[in-house]
Amino acid sequence: MRGFAIGLGVRCSFCHTVSNALDSPDDDFSSDDKPAKLKARVMLQMVQAINQDHIPNLPDRTEPNLEVGCVTCHAGRTRPTTLVQEMTWAIEEGGEDAMRARYAELREQYYGRGALDFGAGTLITVAQTLGTDNPEAGLAATELNLEHYPTSFSSWLIKGQLHLLIEETADAITAFERALELAPESATAKRLLAEARGG
Ligand code: HEC
Ligand code: HEC
Repeated sequence: MRGFAIGLGVRCSFCHTVSNALDSPDDDFSSDDKPAKLKARVMLQMVQAINQDHIPNLPDRTEPNLEVGCVTCHAGRTRPTTLVQEMTWAIEEGGEDAMRARYAELREQYYGRGALDFGAGTLITVAQTLGTDNPEAGLAATELNLEHYPTSFSSWLIKGQLHLLIEETADAITAFERALELAPESATAKRLLAEARGG
């Protein structure tokens, strides 16, 4: 049960109708009142099936053996989303401001915990995925990324491309120049800068 609680980053009372005090006489762990407990039971069956019926069939299984636990997917959160997914939802629901707010909120809560990927790649993926449909949101994602990773070459490159897409040539040139400062040998940065200056 501690594995459940730690895996999901919750207390016993997330699934059980109990106080959080230890050994309270009113605690009834057998009650199925909470929907989370019913969900957890399905999850438990799923995890058992993975560990008993599937993983053992791996040809030439690597030693020491590994099994799946709640933490494998949940990594300390009740819903095992990715940060890319969270950012995409936030943009859909409330635009760039919602994305910034959600990023800050999740970073505050989970940075350094291994639960979500706050590396430079996440917001680059968001910008690349959204960029052509919604360049403004793509730009907001790159700019947010540059606040945390000001020397991210790829972010400057994508920022330049997104500026070009919405015909902000001067901003595009500045971004490509910055990219080229960071990677003076980059053929892509040279080409994009030349194209932006030329057109
Ligand atoms: C994510 C949901 C979840 C969390 C968190 C959780 N449990 Fe459970 N617990 C369950 C489920 C589901 C069962 C029933 C398992 C089954 O049906 O085989 C259960 C069963 C139990 C039982 C046996 C109840 C009975 O039927 O007699 C006890 C005792 C218990 N949990 C204690 C705890 C304690 C203590 C914690 C906190 C450290 C905890 N649980 C946290 C989901 C949870
Ligand atoms: C293979 C990955 C995986 C493993 C392992 C896993 N889960 Fe889940 N779990 C999920 C996914 C994905 C969801 C979200 C499903 C959805 O809402 O669409 C989820 C949802 C849940 C929820 C509902 C959360 C909510 O607020 O809606 C509970 C509770 C839960 N899991 C408990 C557990 C427990 C307890 C274990 C370990 C016994 C476990 N899970 C193991 C993938 C996993």
